[in-house]
Amino acid sequence: MARIDPLKEFSEDHKKVRELLLRLMEEIEAGRVEDARRTLQELDKLVGPHFRFEEESLYPLLQRFFGKAYYESLLRAHDRVIDTARKLAQALSKGQLAPEERRQLVEAIRTNVLPHVVECEGLVLFAEKLSKAELESLAEAIERARREGIPLLEWAEKHRKRHHGGC
Ligand SMILES: [Fe+2]
Repeated sequence: MARIDPLKEFSEDHKKVRELLLRLMEEIEAGRVEDARRTLQELDKLVGPHFRFEEESLYPLLQRFFGKAYYESLLRAHDRVIDTARKLAQALSKGQLAPEERRQLVEAIRTNVLPHVVECEGLVLFAEKLSKAELESLAEAIERARREGIPLLEWAEKHRKRHHGGC
């Protein structure tokens, strides 16, 4: 059976994430807390397997192009996304958000999340240079992460190898 194209899947995920993040910001701005909570749940489900795939499989392979310092900075970018997702989940668990709170949440998404989507999509440029065997191992890793389907915040809490203190 032909395997999925891992880089195509990877980019498709980014487009889905882009759509969900734009929707989430719109819902927060409009004070539609219940809708925003649902959108955040969709993101949690989609991004969990994606981050796991990146940290366990893709980023280690990319180290040979970028070296350790950039690898570490990619993990720190994930720390910031995870912290922001936690903050959002907490804020959206309340029934209502004050205008100032809405503004701060949207700003947190813009500062801590959107740049990583851009950066991550850019990594495809270098991932294309991986060998056929490496790309096959990535296809397998994406399929496995999706099959197991651990949402982002659960993965960060219970399974992620890297632990960070939060920021
Ligand atoms: Fe990504």
